[in-house]
Amino acid sequence: MIPIGDGRDCPLRDAVILKTKDSIIVQKRTFPPHRLLMGPGPSNVHTRVLHAMARPTIGHLDPVFGSIMEEIKTMLRSVFRTENALTIPLSAPGSVGMETCLVNLLEPGDTAIICVNGAFGGRMADIAQRCGAETVVIEQSWGDAVDPSRVEDAFKGNPKASLLAFVHAETSTGVQSDVAALCKIASAHNALSVVDAVTSLGGIPVEVDAWGADAMYSGTQKCLSCPPGLSPLTIGERAAHRIKNRKQPVQSWFMDLGLVMSYWDGAGGRTYHHTAPVNAMYGLHEALTMLLEEGLEASWSRHAAMHDALWAGLNALGLKRHVKKPQALPQLNTVCIPDGLEEAAVRRGLLQNFDIEIGAGLGELAGKVWRVGLMGATARPASVRRFLVSLEQTLGSFQKIDSPGQALVAAEGVLAANA
Ligand SMILES: Cc1ncc(COP(=O)(O)O)c(C=O)c1O
Repeated sequence: MIPIGDGRDCPLRDAVILKTKDSIIVQKRTFPPHRLLMGPGPSNVHTRVLHAMARPTIGHLDPVFGSIMEEIKTMLRSVFRTENALTIPLSAPGSVGMETCLVNLLEPGDTAIICVNGAFGGRMADIAQRCGAETVVIEQSWGDAVDPSRVEDAFKGNPKASLLAFVHAETSTGVQSDVAALCKIASAHNALSVVDAVTSLGGIPVEVDAWGADAMYSGTQKCLSCPPGLSPLTIGERAAHRIKNRKQPVQSWFMDLGLVMSYWDGAGGRTYHHTAPVNAMYGLHEALTMLLEEGLEASWSRHAAMHDALWAGLNALGLKRHVKKPQALPQLNTVCIPDGLEEAAVRRGLLQNFDIEIGAGLGELAGKVWRVGLMGATARPASVRRFLVSLEQTLGSFQKIDSPGQALVAAEGVLAANA
């Protein structure tokens, strides 16, 4: 089908005209509904961020946009808790943050230790292999945190390893790993650490400098409450030194940080590299402003409090965690699916009847867990209440609920205690 109208040139403004080989169809245009986004991301975007994105588009080399870029860099440093000069948002989703770190820090023949305790660690291993690195994979069960003693052993067995990569907050399993301990091991073995903070930044403590992380990237669509599409990145001095002293040029032109920096470097006079998604940057600017207005500690506490309220309600419904505290992520909850329940039917019911999105299990956990996100602007009492009431009603159409109404009562108790 070839679309020949988008509504603006159509007398019916909510219609779209589609032309097939032998007919013309007029059908209703598709508009996005208002959903409560409680999946693994994106999370709900605050209206302040959406309004900021509707500000006038200006040229990406306009000096005013230059000032906005500088402010974003400064705020990102605060959010990452770092003094790293090379702290920027990449014009691409979190996966590009991951790939940028690895393609810049690895060269063919290098040895990289990659921790795989879920889907995203697996991607890191794949990218490291594609960089031509000899990749030592530490495989762990999906739901376990990365085990520092296994990392220590991997370095002892591979003394030439020059890089350690792992995921701080594994969105596929809901577990968090101990970044400080893992970075310390990498540094003791003279290797660089690459940390995935896509789901952690803004939701749980992230301390780049205090932890000695050499490279860290994130994504905008989780606890930063922006639409998807940008990847905040920070690179420390040791990592920057490694990049400057590469033997071979980075195989990716777009992700070559040497080139990207000439675009983001206010002091050096910005030169064209690509056209930044100007309005998306306005959104990030607003979201970072809001996060710093709230305060990082306050944001972390809010996520923790919503997690506790959610689980009080889920436990009252007889549901169990896949990951135990204290390693369970507050912002991404893996809920074990009760025996005999068709998990997709519950997700469908929540979406169709209550406009609530939750996530299915990924990889090894497909069919075993739901992934319930409480990230950024979604991490609010109203989300917890609406979700628990809707879930109880949805579950009630498949099985008997023992104590109706108790999930909300249990959650209210926790919310009141944290108010
Ligand atoms: C831990 C983690 N790393 C990387 C990514 C990739 O980010 P994106 O989907 O923005 O490319 C995700 C996305 O969900 C993630 O959760």
